[in-house]
Amino acid sequence: MPEPAPIPMSATLAADEALARRRRAGERVLSMAAGEIGLPVLPVLRERLAAAAAENAYGPVAGSPALRTAVAGYWERRGLAVDPGLVVAGPGSKSLLFALLLAIGGDVVVPVPSWVSYAAQARLAGARPIPVPIRPGQGGVPDPDRLREAVVAARAAGQDPRVVVVTVPDNPTGTVASAGTVRRLADTARELDLVIVSDEIYGDLVYDTSEPAVSPALHAPERTVVTTGLTKNLALGGWRTGVARLPDSEPGRAPAGNALLSGFMGTHKKKWGGETAPEGGEFTPPKWFFKGFGDWVRLPGEALNVPARPVALIEEPEVALVYVNDADGTPHYAGYTFGNDLCDIGLHRQDPGYNPYCKLCDTALTPWLFLGPPPRTVTGRVTIVRDGATVWEGTFDCGDDALYYRVQDMADHLFTFPAVRRPGLVNYVLLGADEASFHDGFRIADGDRVAIDVKSHGVAFENQVRYVSPAPSATPAAAPAPAAAAAAPERVATV
Ligand SMILES: Cc1ncc(COP(=O)(O)O)c(C=O)c1O
Repeated sequence: MPEPAPIPMSATLAADEALARRRRAGERVLSMAAGEIGLPVLPVLRERLAAAAAENAYGPVAGSPALRTAVAGYWERRGLAVDPGLVVAGPGSKSLLFALLLAIGGDVVVPVPSWVSYAAQARLAGARPIPVPIRPGQGGVPDPDRLREAVVAARAAGQDPRVVVVTVPDNPTGTVASAGTVRRLADTARELDLVIVSDEIYGDLVYDTSEPAVSPALHAPERTVVTTGLTKNLALGGWRTGVARLPDSEPGRAPAGNALLSGFMGTHKKKWGGETAPEGGEFTPPKWFFKGFGDWVRLPGEALNVPARPVALIEEPEVALVYVNDADGTPHYAGYTFGNDLCDIGLHRQDPGYNPYCKLCDTALTPWLFLGPPPRTVTGRVTIVRDGATVWEGTFDCGDDALYYRVQDMADHLFTFPAVRRPGLVNYVLLGADEASFHDGFRIADGDRVAIDVKSHGVAFENQVRYVSPAPSATPAAAPAPAAAAAAPERVATV
C-alpha cells in the first residue's frame, strides 16, 4: 500500500481556529472561512432531536429505514427518484465523500478552484488529485474538454483516474454550472469511464432560480453518486448528518417496468465449430430472446424458481452487459456484470419454437457493475451441490473472445428496435453461454445449489434451484364472457 503523504490541516478549519483565538483575545472578527451558516436551530428540528435523545443503540450501518425512506422522498421531490436501498447515511457528507474515494479507488479529478477537502481527501486515500480548471462562470465542474485531455494524459503517464468530483452549486465560486456544462461533463465522464461524485450540499440554496442547478445524475444515472446533508440548507453542521445517493443501475435493482433482461441464442464459438464471424462479412443477427423484467432478477443467495417438472435445466454462466437509456432514449453502455441465465434447454431441444417457454425461469445477476468495455476473457468454474455433496463440476469460458459474433454488432442490432429504447430503460443483455452440465449428461434437480465462481474476475455467487408451480386456484380467472357470448357459446368457441 502506498505511504500516505503528510496532510496539512484543512485551510478553512485552520482559519476558523485562528479567528476563534482572535475572538478570545477580544477582537471583533467576521469569519469567511468554513461554511458555517450560524443560524439558530429551527424549533421543530430541535424537538425531533430531543425526542430521539434516548435512543442509544447501534443502528443499521447504512442508516435507519425511516431515514433512508425520507431521504429517497427528498430526492424524488427534486426529480431524482431513488430506491431507499440505494441511500446511505453517514456522519456528515464529508466522511461519505472520503469513504467514496476509498471505495472507488484510483486517482481523483478535482475542479480548480474547489472546496479544499477534495484534494486533501484524495491524498489521504493514497490517490493523486488531478486538477482540471473550470470554465468561467461554471464553478464546480471541470471544463469537459480539459477533463478529457487531463485524463488521457494521466493514463498515458501511468496514473489511474477513476473518479471526477463536481460541486453543484459550487463552493467556493458561488456559481451554478449550466445544464449544458453538466450534460457535457456527464457525457465526457461516460466516454472516459469515470465515476462522477456530485457534491450537491448547496442544492437548496440557489436564490436565482432562473437557471436551476442540474445534477449529473440526470444524464449519467448509472455512474453518478450524489451527496448532500443537513449542514447548509438547515444550518445543522454540528449534527453531522450527510447522505449519499448511489447509482441506480446496480444490477437487480432497477424498478420492475424499467429494466429488460434479454439475450441472443447460439452466440458461443463452440456452437460454430470454434469459429468467429468473418471479419468484414455481412452481419446476420442471431435470434434474440426475452428473459424477463428487472424484478425477475435474483441476487446471489436468492432462490431461482423454475416451473415444476422441467424437461432438463441448464445453468448458463454469462456476462450481462448493462445499457442505460437517457432521457432521449439513447442507450449508453454502462458496464457489465455476471449472471446465471438458467433455462429449460430440454424444452427447447424438444421444440426450438418453444424457446420463450424454455427461458421462463428466474435469472441470477450479481449486484456489482464492472466499469470498462465488455471483458475479452471470462473464465471460471461451476459447482452443483445436492444434499451437501458436489454432484457436478466444470469450467466455462464466456468473454468476448469466446463468441462467434462481435458484441458491438449484436448491440447495434438490438438498439435498432424502438421497444428497447424507451427513455430510462435499463437493458441487461446476456451474452454467450458456454456448454455446461446439461451437455455433460448431468440433470439439475429441485433443491440443487448452483455455485458460479468467475475466477477471472474474483466474483462468486450461488443460487438454489426451486421447482415451483403455483396451485391452479392461484391462476387468475378468465374474463367473464359477455352476455351475447353466453347466449351463443358455440360461436364464441370458434372465434
Ligand atoms: C462543498 C462542500 N461539501 C461538503 C461540505 C461538508 O459538509 P458536511 O457538513 O455534510 O460534512 C462543505 C462544508 O463546508 C462544503 O462546502
